[in-house]
Amino acid sequence: TIAALDALEILDSRGRPTVEARLTLSDGRAVSASVPSGASTGRHEAVERRDGDLSRYRGRGTRGAVAAIDGEIAAALIGREPRQREVDAALRALDGTPDKSRLGANAILAVSLATARAAALVAGEPLWRHLAAGAEVTLPRPMVNIVSGGLHAGRQLDFQDFLVIPLAASSFSAALETVVAVHAATGELLAERGLSTLKADEGGYGPALPDHRAALRLLDDAVRRAGLEPGEQVAYGLDVAATHFFDAATGSYRLASEQRTLDAAELAGYVEQLAAEHPIVSIEDPLAEDDWPAWAELTARLGGRMQVIGDDLFTTDLQRLERGIAERSANAVLVKMNQIGTISETADVVAHAKAAGFTTVVSARSGETEDDALADLAVGLAGGQIKVGSVTQSERLAKYNRLLRIERDLGEQARLAPLPETLRSA
Ligand code: PGA
Ligand code: ZN
Repeated sequence: TIAALDALEILDSRGRPTVEARLTLSDGRAVSASVPSGASTGRHEAVERRDGDLSRYRGRGTRGAVAAIDGEIAAALIGREPRQREVDAALRALDGTPDKSRLGANAILAVSLATARAAALVAGEPLWRHLAAGAEVTLPRPMVNIVSGGLHAGRQLDFQDFLVIPLAASSFSAALETVVAVHAATGELLAERGLSTLKADEGGYGPALPDHRAALRLLDDAVRRAGLEPGEQVAYGLDVAATHFFDAATGSYRLASEQRTLDAAELAGYVEQLAAEHPIVSIEDPLAEDDWPAWAELTARLGGRMQVIGDDLFTTDLQRLERGIAERSANAVLVKMNQIGTISETADVVAHAKAAGFTTVVSARSGETEDDALADLAVGLAGGQIKVGSVTQSERLAKYNRLLRIERDLGEQARLAPLPETLRSA
């Protein structure tokens, strides 16, 4: 039984306040969980509660969300069993808004996640096994940020992420090793070329490159320097994050780094061209978050050859995902717990996506804490792929290292998720 719930304002990897919840069981054992925060957020995400008091943390304080947990939420949950669906339903009902803005999605997710940990503790299981609920588990294939642009790197490049996807590795640890080799080689190349090796928000490099092709050529060079062949052992993913350079007034996409303005079809053509020159097998948010018809056109054009992921498009929201499935707007969904605010709703999105033949990529946010539950979620829901940012910075490594431990604990049973059809085109 839940005996107590309280919360704390802590800091995330950008030094901004976030929420940690602590749940104490009637036997005295306690668990904690903290929540991340995005920068390139989608308009349709659940709303995190910020104090708006400009005298603290530039208005980003989370004392209101903390007070909601200490007060209303604790009062509603104390005495209940830590059963996920019941607790999540109670949280939604108590909040009463469609976007979880009253209590705050940050307060709600912290409690939902603490409930998952408490339930696993009561069951005497690791979190991943508890989340799997008897279903088969897999280790996720990592999709790792090497070069950053967009809102995470001072808009150095318009596209937000240039990622490396290991294709040939047969275990999670081998996949991670491959990516780390490419990351290290990239740093060496940048240093040799007199370019900055400073890190962007997610730990990726944010060098002053002239354009997107230069970033892709840098990846090609780094992969070869690591002794690998682009398109063989590794392929690339892009997170275009197009919402964030879309001009709603003109319905066009402004590529500042290339001093060009494109319409949706031209942007799709541009991506197609880049994919002809480099082994790009995955593309996220290639179009703006509400440009549904253009998404369907792009997916019809490119979806047979690559993974087309909706992040800002779907915001881990079941209704938006269902529309995307019906209209074939994409063939994959990015899964971020804090976009929707509860574990059970997150699990429902993964289940629906898989049933429709969509691939799923469980994802961290650009602002993260040292909480490692994302790793358990990716394994327990057999998410297939995981996107955590780069392979530096402890808020990222908490997740990778947790996956290494889970892989060890699974022993003979550890299986890397199979390579989906959409990633095979390289
Ligand atoms: P965000 O970025 O956490 O800043 O939204 C991650 C992403 O766009 O995938
Ligand atoms: Zn994204």
